[in-house]
Amino acid sequence: MKRSEEEKKTNPLDQEREDFQDLRPRRLSEYIGQRQVVETLEIAIEAAKRRGEPLDHILFHAPPGLGKTTLAHIIATEMGVQIVTSSGPAIEKGGDLISILTHLEKGDVLFIDEIHRLPKIVEEFLYPAMEDFCIDFIFDKGAHARSHRYRLERFTLVGATTRAGLLSAPLRERFGILRNLDFYAVEELSQVVKRSAALLGVPIDQEGTEEIAKRSRGTPRISNRLLKRVRDYAEIRGQGKITKEITDEALRLEGVDEMGLTLLDRRFLETIIRYYKGGPVGLEAIAATLQEETDTLVDMVEPFLLKIGFLARMQNGRKATERAYDHFGIPYHESGKQLSFPTRKKP
Ligand code: ADE
Repeated sequence: MKRSEEEKKTNPLDQEREDFQDLRPRRLSEYIGQRQVVETLEIAIEAAKRRGEPLDHILFHAPPGLGKTTLAHIIATEMGVQIVTSSGPAIEKGGDLISILTHLEKGDVLFIDEIHRLPKIVEEFLYPAMEDFCIDFIFDKGAHARSHRYRLERFTLVGATTRAGLLSAPLRERFGILRNLDFYAVEELSQVVKRSAALLGVPIDQEGTEEIAKRSRGTPRISNRLLKRVRDYAEIRGQGKITKEITDEALRLEGVDEMGLTLLDRRFLETIIRYYKGGPVGLEAIAATLQEETDTLVDMVEPFLLKIGFLARMQNGRKATERAYDHFGIPYHESGKQLSFPTRKKP
């Protein structure tokens, strides 16, 4: 692993909001939504600070863009410690992890994104590090093998994963706080849009705010991305102010529909409906038809479609629901077979 590229150590306390493009909240008090998670963290942080101890290890599970990384940075800021960030795929060998762990200072936060993708061999080094704050070096092999226990500073591991199911039980069990982040409500995303628009200094009315929030797939990262696109549109094609009308026009260009579905979301559902008669159909078949990675579909597409009830996951595959048919204006038939569109015969 190239340390300089893959692993970054920053002191969040030193970071001013100098880069106005960075819309992420820096403190828990600024964080919108996920009230139970925020309250859990407030209590755990206050208790750890009072006792003068590092925080327990924390695992966040959520689809992309819901705030796992943001919360890790906030935790470090609130604890007044440094954060070192890395990710499962970036830590290839035991040595990579040892190098990170031995450079941590007392109380530091180690953030590992996509922690479910840590190689097994690396994961095993992590167990004693998390539990006893030590690592065991083994020298030589066979009869001459000797081990040396190296003491680490007490640190807090913050892990993030989109796939809690892929995490091994021994790793999962070593976290003291495990929390799932859910999709945001439209009212919460409206607050995010309002806050971000104020930081960007772009005028926006209530209807424009709500329209962006409504089309953000429950995801603040998407709210902020859409806000920036609508701001560009408002400045170039409008009078600079974001209204509902400007938002509608800008998001039509982005290919984002009134539910917030993207082209990939729509291709995914239409493949099931038109190509596989509504399903059930295996994910691999959908991925092959769309020429997309199954991981992309599982992480980026399916969670929101499941959330809004457009998709059902069955034992024998995925099925488009009546709501999905309605969204596309395709007549629904109980069996899942539509009536008025040509379908392919199954071989
Ligand atoms: N920006 C992105 N996510 C946010 C959140 N949850 N609260 C406030 N601002 C955000």
